[in-house]
Amino acid sequence: MKKLIALFVTIAFVLTISGVAFAAGYNVPLEYTRKKGYPSGPHGDYADTTNKCKDCHAVHLAQGTWRLLRDNTRATACDACHGTGGLSTLIITTNPEGHTMGYSGTAPDDAGTAWSTTSFGCMDCHSPHDNNTVVLTGKTTSKLLKVDPDPGEALYWTGTGDESEWCSDCHSANYGLHTAAKTVGGATRYGHDCSTDGMTIVGAWPVVNPGDNVNKGPTCKQCHLSSDYPHSQGGTTSRDMLKDTLGSGTPATLLDDVCNDCHNTATLP
Ligand code: HEC
Ligand code: HEC
Ligand code: HEC
Ligand code: HEC
Ligand code: HEC
Ligand code: HEC
Repeated sequence: MKKLIALFVTIAFVLTISGVAFAAGYNVPLEYTRKKGYPSGPHGDYADTTNKCKDCHAVHLAQGTWRLLRDNTRATACDACHGTGGLSTLIITTNPEGHTMGYSGTAPDDAGTAWSTTSFGCMDCHSPHDNNTVVLTGKTTSKLLKVDPDPGEALYWTGTGDESEWCSDCHSANYGLHTAAKTVGGATRYGHDCSTDGMTIVGAWPVVNPGDNVNKGPTCKQCHLSSDYPHSQGGTTSRDMLKDTLGSGTPATLLDDVCNDCHNTATLP
């Protein structure tokens, strides 16, 4: 019995010591998670009564060299929680068919910012502290989305609106009416109708009436339907975040299959 008590005392002592060690490091386990009632986790809404900084930053005993986080670089700053096997329940993977971390150059179909010295990453779209963010039409939280992801360029995006308009800050040619001229690579170009409200479906097919000059085209997401939208392809048989169940072949996505989902080919002129 005495031995057992001694064992308990030792365990209690060890726990206290490690408790002290943790107190000077990060919150372990995380204090701000969706399961505990915080939909935005430790991101934003900081007050004198919250203890959120320590979910991410350790004042003296940081594990990484980047801004007292658990990681050593800006590009990996989110991995500790959102990477594979991370601390938070969400796992975000990225692959070359979607938004690739470390990409350099201008976003496809755009004339704005070129990511070169600061390679492209999570924080080009998200603000970790939920500052200068926007709640897009139809959403309940900001999802930490930056109000101006492509500084210096705004063809359609003016700081308010829905997700398709927001995407067009970086991919300006892909939004709007098919008669609206856009500049890509110095040349004038036109794109498939893409609208904020999305298309009207009557029966099995969307209503196609491009001649009336009213934009009833799909939203970005109605064409880019991948399971990991808006981050990556998800599956492996498609590309460009288009539906991931499409046919095989070279290239893997046979684009007619995408078009046929919306356009009843038997009724085309
Ligand atoms: C210390 C852990 C931690 C780190 C590091 C972290 N997050 Fe989070 N994040 C969370 C938690 C916890 C949630 C809430 C969801 C949950 O419980 O899994 C969350 C939620 C989010 C959300 C959803 C917000 C909402 O309102 O729905 C976004 C977006 C996000 N994180 C992006 C990021 C980005 C980008 C980074 C890197 C800059 C990052 N996070 C780093 C823990 C973390
Ligand atoms: C969800 C994780 C997370 C939380 C919670 C968090 N931060 Fe950060 N913080 C980051 C990340 C990621 C960066 C790096 C940003 C970058 O590289 O642009 C950062 C950077 C910083 C910086 C450096 C700013 C700069 O100009 O480089 C400071 C200061 C800072 N945070 C303070 C705080 C304080 C104070 C709190 C609490 C009120 C807090 N952070 C909460 C993730 C977090
Ligand atoms: C091109 C812009 C972009 C990039 C880059 C990006 N995200 Fe997102 N992310 C979004 C958008 C848009 C949403 C909102 C999706 C929605 O509401 O359906 C989102 C949502 C999220 C969420 C919330 C998911 C949920 O279930 O609520 C998390 C977490 C997140 N992103 C983390 C990350 C991390 C980590 C990275 C880097 C590996 C990253 N994001 C890179 C645009 C981006
Ligand atoms: C901050 C700027 C930015 C925003 C905002 C943004 N993107 Fe992107 N997007 C990029 C960059 C840069 C790439 C190139 C990445 C690559 O090819 O690896 C890219 C790549 C893509 C691709 C894949 C292209 C390919 O060749 O594989 C698609 C599809 C796409 N974006 C759609 C969207 C959608 C939909 C949204 C809104 C939810 C969005 N983007 C928001 C910058 C952005
Ligand atoms: C009518 C369906 C449709 C809509 C709406 C749509 N896309 Fe696409 N998108 C596609 C298809 C199909 C491809 C593949 C094009 C190819 O291979 O020639 C593509 C390719 C892309 C690419 C890769 C570069 C390129 O042009 O090949 C990006 C980036 C992209 N889309 C972003 C967006 C964004 C952002 C929106 C919303 C503003 C959007 N798309 C709306 C169907 C659509
Ligand atoms: C998610 C549904 C959807 C997909 C996928 C789709 N379209 Fe469309 N498309 C529409 C709708 C809806 C309109 C009519 C817009 C209007 O009436 O304002 C349209 C209009 C058009 C037009 C005429 C006007 C314009 O926008 O240029 C052409 C041409 C066209 N689509 C070709 C294609 C091709 C080629 C593909 C495959 C790469 C495709 N569409 C994929 C829904 C779709």
